[in-house]
Amino acid sequence: MSFNRRDLLLAGSSFGATLAAAGPVVAQNTQAVPATPEPAQQPAANGNAAADSPVPSTDRPLNIITLRDLPAEAQKVLPVYSYAYVAGGAGDEWTLRENEAAINRWVIEPDFLSGHPTPDLTTMLFGSKVSLPVITAPMASHDLFNTAAEAATVKGTDQAGSIYVSSAASSLDLETIAAASQGPKWFQIYFPADRGFARELLQRAKAAGYKLIVITVDVAVTSNRERVTRILGQPTPNMHRGNIPTTPGIDHQRAAVYKHDLNWDDVAFCGTETGLPVVVKSIISVRNVVQAIERGCAGVWISNHGGRQLDNSPAPMAALPRIADAVNGRVPIIVDGGFRRGQDVFRALALGASAVALGRPIIYGLSLGGASGVQSVLQHLKTELAMVMQLAGVPSIKDITRECVAPHRVA
Ligand SMILES: Cc1cc2nc3c(=O)[nH]c(=O)nc-3n(C[C@H](O)[C@H](O)[C@H](O)COP(=O)(O)O)c2cc1C
Repeated sequence: MSFNRRDLLLAGSSFGATLAAAGPVVAQNTQAVPATPEPAQQPAANGNAAADSPVPSTDRPLNIITLRDLPAEAQKVLPVYSYAYVAGGAGDEWTLRENEAAINRWVIEPDFLSGHPTPDLTTMLFGSKVSLPVITAPMASHDLFNTAAEAATVKGTDQAGSIYVSSAASSLDLETIAAASQGPKWFQIYFPADRGFARELLQRAKAAGYKLIVITVDVAVTSNRERVTRILGQPTPNMHRGNIPTTPGIDHQRAAVYKHDLNWDDVAFCGTETGLPVVVKSIISVRNVVQAIERGCAGVWISNHGGRQLDNSPAPMAALPRIADAVNGRVPIIVDGGFRRGQDVFRALALGASAVALGRPIIYGLSLGGASGVQSVLQHLKTELAMVMQLAGVPSIKDITRECVAPHRVA
């Protein structure tokens, strides 16, 4: 099923974006790859060099200096709409900026002379062993960024030894994504208005081998992603929706719409329909976290959707210390929003997170290098985190504790 930008905005979904702040100089090249920039840039009538770019189909490793270089490089190869969709946030983008700013309100307190050898970055997450405490966040519509779409993202994530979380709003269907890699996978649902479709999606996800259900709860209405609104009317890449209903009798119009009045019964439904553990994503308050645990959720995912939904909601790193105190080790905490450095991951783990989910950098890796690009992004973060752990004198993930960080105070 093809659909256009306006469908996305009307569907009450999480789709949206920005024409972004350009980053520094980039990041590519690799022994295996031709140096020629790809695809060729076509000047467009509106003066934006990327306006006529086709969706890339590259598959190559990236030689990354820092993940901060990736947005500007991705912007060079992506259609204008694709870049606007991934890069931006809602409203004034205060929350988008705050996500990164809040991380830097904490400093790392190193323990030199600790005598530890090379650090061990492996950890267990809901029964799966991962090679680093970083997973791929659920994100919609990967065919905007690479013609191989989610098949590339899931493969790159697996090759890096991590967990892939498949969005209900994927371009490919969830079965095709599941078949594209052997690695551990979770399914993220936007609870549909049509309960029959919700049941169908959950059962398909279980049958396809997804091991955990993530329910995202912060998309009651479409948010004001103004960078996308500004470019409505410009050409749009052809987008597909993979997970259209297959059961006869499901209303296709309603199936495309998310339930606007979600409640805890809908969360419980995900568990009872599948028998799989359920994690609630995109909650940010102590109240919702406590409710999730009381109602039997296997974990909580602290997020503001990468600043793409409720602007002026708090940054996950600002909320995390109080949330970790309330959780008190009862369930794993996943956190996302603005994590770009090994230092950032380290600080989140120190404040009580079990793992960090990575959003936009994964999409930039997909855009620049397909499956290999995604692997490069995760591998880069792993290398950086290993360096940070060694410099901080911490031998393993479980040793990254609250004592390893302190609030940043300006004298
Ligand atoms: C392009 C894009 C699409 C997204 N689509 C979804 C989605 O389908 N489901 C969801 O739960 N979150 C979605 N998100 C939010 C991410 O899961 C994650 O919370 C956020 O990107 C993390 O912030 P970061 O991009 O700063 O790392 C999306 C984010 C982006 C950038």
